[in-house]
Amino acid sequence: MLATKDLLGLQTMSVADLERVLETAVAMKEILARPLRKVPTLRGRTVCTLFYEASTRTRTSFETAARVLSADVTSISAQSSSIIKGESFKDTLLTLQATGVDAFIIRHHMAGAPHYAASLVSAGVVNGGDGMHEHPTQGLLDLFTIQERLGRLEGVKVAIVGDSLHSRVARSNVWGLTKLGAHVTLCGPPTMMPPAVQSLGECGRVRVTSNLCDALDGADIVYVLRIQLERQQAALFPSVREYAGLFGLNSDALKRAKPDALVMHPGPMNRGVEISAELADSDRAVILDQVQNGVAVRMAVLYLLLGGHEH
Ligand code: CP
Repeated sequence: MLATKDLLGLQTMSVADLERVLETAVAMKEILARPLRKVPTLRGRTVCTLFYEASTRTRTSFETAARVLSADVTSISAQSSSIIKGESFKDTLLTLQATGVDAFIIRHHMAGAPHYAASLVSAGVVNGGDGMHEHPTQGLLDLFTIQERLGRLEGVKVAIVGDSLHSRVARSNVWGLTKLGAHVTLCGPPTMMPPAVQSLGECGRVRVTSNLCDALDGADIVYVLRIQLERQQAALFPSVREYAGLFGLNSDALKRAKPDALVMHPGPMNRGVEISAELADSDRAVILDQVQNGVAVRMAVLYLLLGGHEH
C-alpha cells in the first residue's frame, strides 16, 4: 500500500511510493494482456470520478482500471449533476461519500481542490488534474512509459517543450523524473516558463532554455506539451503560426535529439501547432503507449490505495 490515503501530487510523493506504483503497474499490465481482463481484487469497492473539467484519457482510463479490478464506478460531471444547481464542492463530496464511495478521482480547475477534498472525506482522493498545479497519474504513466521503453530513468535526458507555465503535466513530470534520477530541460518562450524554476524538481536536475535546438541536443525523450489556450490570461506569443515555427516539433527538428529519441505528448494534441501530424503518427511517437499504460498505472494506484493491504 502507499504511505498516504490520498495521491495528490508527485512533489510530495516519496521515492519508495513512486517506485511501488511503477512496479505494481508492471503486474497490472500483465493482467491487461490476458484474454479475460478481469480480477476480483476490488470487488465491493466503489470508485467515483468527479470531474469539473473535460477529460477523455484520465477519466476513461480510471473507469476502465476500476472495472478491470471489479470495483463499482460512479461517474459525476459538473454538467450533469446537482453541481449545476449550485451545490457546493463540500456538499457534493459528502453526499457522494454517503452513498458509499471508497475513492474519489477529482479533476478541478482550482489548484488545491483535491487537497481540500482529502481533508473533508475519509475516502481516498486521487488528483486527476488540479488547475495549473499537478496531474500526478499522468506523471506516473509517463515515468512508466519511459522506463518500459528505455529500461531505466536514472540519467535519462528529457526535453519538455512548450507551455510549462500553465502545465500541470510538466510540473508532475519534473518532480517524478528528477526524483528518479532523470535530467529535465524545459524549453519554450520565456513567457511560458515558470518564474521559480529553481524550486522545481530535485536540486540541479532542471534547466531552462528558449532555444529548441539546445533543448533537443542529446535528448533521449522529447516531451511535447499542449498549447493550452484556455488557461492563458494574455497572449503569450504573437501567433500560433510563429509558435509552431519556433517551438513546433517535426521530424526535421527531432534530428537534434538522439537518433533513437522517443516523442511523448499527454494529449489532446494540437496537430500542426506543437507537433506535426507526420511525427505524431510516426513510430518515434509513443503517445498511444502512454494512453495504454495509463490504464495499468491507474489500476496500480487504485489497488495500492484501496486493496493493497488486503492482498
Ligand atoms: N492527458 C490528459 O489528462 O488527457 P485528458 O484531459 O483527456 O484526461
